[in-house]
Amino acid sequence: MSEVTNQKVAILNIPGLDPIELPILKGTEGPEVIDVRALGSHGYFTYDPGFVSTASCKSKITFIDGEKGILLHRGYPIAQLATQTDYLQVCYLLLNGDLPNEEQYANFKKRITYHTMVHEQINSLFKAFRRDSHPMAIMCGIAGALSAFYHDNLDIYDPEHRELTAMRLVAKMPTLAAMAYKYSIGQPFMSPKNDLSYAGNFLHMMFATPCEEYVVNPVIEKALDRIFILHADHEQNASTSSVRLAGSSGANPYACIAAGIASLWGPAHGGANEACLRMLERIGTVDRIPEFIAKAKDKNDPFRLMGFGHRVYKNYDPRATVMRDTCHEVLKELNIKDHPILDVAVELERIARSDEYFIQRKLYPNVDFYSGIILNAIGIPTNMFTVIFALARTIGWITHWIEMNEEADSRIGRPRQIYVGSPTREVKPMNEREACPKKF
Ligand code: CMC
Repeated sequence: MSEVTNQKVAILNIPGLDPIELPILKGTEGPEVIDVRALGSHGYFTYDPGFVSTASCKSKITFIDGEKGILLHRGYPIAQLATQTDYLQVCYLLLNGDLPNEEQYANFKKRITYHTMVHEQINSLFKAFRRDSHPMAIMCGIAGALSAFYHDNLDIYDPEHRELTAMRLVAKMPTLAAMAYKYSIGQPFMSPKNDLSYAGNFLHMMFATPCEEYVVNPVIEKALDRIFILHADHEQNASTSSVRLAGSSGANPYACIAAGIASLWGPAHGGANEACLRMLERIGTVDRIPEFIAKAKDKNDPFRLMGFGHRVYKNYDPRATVMRDTCHEVLKELNIKDHPILDVAVELERIARSDEYFIQRKLYPNVDFYSGIILNAIGIPTNMFTVIFALARTIGWITHWIEMNEEADSRIGRPRQIYVGSPTREVKPMNEREACPKKF
């Protein structure tokens, strides 16, 4: 695979300066990119809040073409991965650059399975949380706490240690996620069962009890596995960028994953699936939809239609297409008809997709619109939705962390700013100061 190529240059004319030549770079796919690194030496920075036009790194992991609705992992289209592989194959793909053959898959699965248990002390850590804590709060704390278990012997510059970190994280996240749920409902933690599939084991740890076996429904198992695949990676989104930024200082990788979990939690990102379901419940009945559509359009109202819109996709989110099909499969299998939330979701999608406001702004349902409905149907409580996103995205986070650490010219992330505060001034003695306009 070819690296970035330098094809031509852009000329930047700043009054009073000689023209500045900026190389134009081209990756294997995607638009050309102006390399502005030299600007600083001319005394200028670029201003790009929200990083709308800024590439923060080179990456070989995932490609998105938001205009065309394309998502590729290591070159493979997401729809093919979601229908022809399973989550562990996708994890292998992300980590290793290609899909495994049978032998490689069997070895990988065995290695992941070997690490599914967590240190006994972790059980005690859970007890420090209130029972009614949001499970994402618990996940932030527990993932960060893993750094206390794996720190002194971890050399982030050793490729084998990085690989082991990835194995541990992929293996332990379902265990920790299920523990967060069990803790919240006051049931004992269920140990992983290594003869089950990755998704099946997670369902077992969520829903089995010591007195009752949980029989994994293959349709639900497949649907959950698909949800994991569809959330596995999404290039430089807020949480992945948080992991990279935290990791760029050489921080412990488990602490970096905690940074990713914190970033994911917000409703504009991974928290959207929970927010979407709560919104559907709030709307309640189909006849109330116009009221909420009007709120979403009202610029004086902060309300947004959760599960609609995306920073990158200005076309249908390709993950949403697969998710919608899976949603119908699950509802059919579970024989769910006339479900009020589903009725609202279907009608909301229909109205939003024919409304000029949403059409003009290219606001389509995103992956979280359907994932919430599926998770709800299979009995996952709403406050666990984002935890499941975090569990699945961990492979993406750690693969980006590894890629960053493999880069020879990796530097600490350090954005600049336009300072708009007070100009330089002198400190006056307290008795000569005017009252400060109180803010806090
Ligand atoms: N409902 C109503 N209006 C919207 C919505 C929405 N969900 N999303 C964007 N808009 C409007 C926005 O008001 C703006 O209108 P105008 O041009 O008149 O000012 C225009 O569309 C562009 O919006 P933006 O805020 O500039 O877009 P952004 O790229 O900064 O934000 C987003 C992207 C995903 C944060 C946003 O669409 C949103 O808040 N969606 C709801 C939350 C959601 O579903 N998030 C999950 C994303 S998918 C999971 C993931 O990958 O994290």
